[in-house]
Amino acid sequence: MMAMDFKEVVFGSSEYKELLDIRNEVLRKPIGMVLRPKDIASDKQEYHLAAFDNGKAIGCVLLRPLDNGSIQLRQMAILDNYRGQNIGAKLVQFAEQIALNKKFKIIETRARKTAEGFYKKLGYISYPNEFEDEHTLKMAKVL
Ligand SMILES: CC(C)(COP(=O)(O)OP(=O)(O)OC[C@H]1O[C@@H](n2cnc3c(N)ncnc32)[C@H](O)[C@@H]1OP(=O)(O)O)[C@@H](O)C(=O)NCCC(=O)NCCS
Repeated sequence: MMAMDFKEVVFGSSEYKELLDIRNEVLRKPIGMVLRPKDIASDKQEYHLAAFDNGKAIGCVLLRPLDNGSIQLRQMAILDNYRGQNIGAKLVQFAEQIALNKKFKIIETRARKTAEGFYKKLGYISYPNEFEDEHTLKMAKVL
């Protein structure tokens, strides 16, 4: 029986370092890159949320408060072996609850086009005209 739980991780802690490994492995390595200083520059000001399987971090997502009053979901990543088990969906829902608790009304993300269907299922709407590059798509949801 898998003991899965979701929690907020403290910036700079050993758990935070586990999340950096996940971000590197899932989001950077496949595109031949590593996490750059600019990827982590605002980490200290963000909320770090993660899924754990028996104490081992297996997925993460960050919430970044924006100047426009919404909150941005970014760096969403689930370890390969754990995908397709609804853990990503539960982690997004956990993040939305945290955002709501902090009084944010709108959550937005710059989704990879390959993940559009994932966010759609969770109630996010696409803004095809507000893309930043050909691989990503702005998506948002009213909480
Ligand atoms: C995208 C990602 C976070 C999804 O996590 P996951 O735990 O595998 O997803 P879940 O099992 O919670 O999926 C929830 C639902 O979304 C669907 N879904 C998952 N990934 C999808 C995708 N890429 N495209 C379309 N639908 C998807 C699932 O089929 C499932 O549908 P169901 O409820 O009908 O069964 C994960 O695949 C991942 O880390 N991918 C690599 C990094 C990445 O692309 N991150 C997002 C960048 S914006």
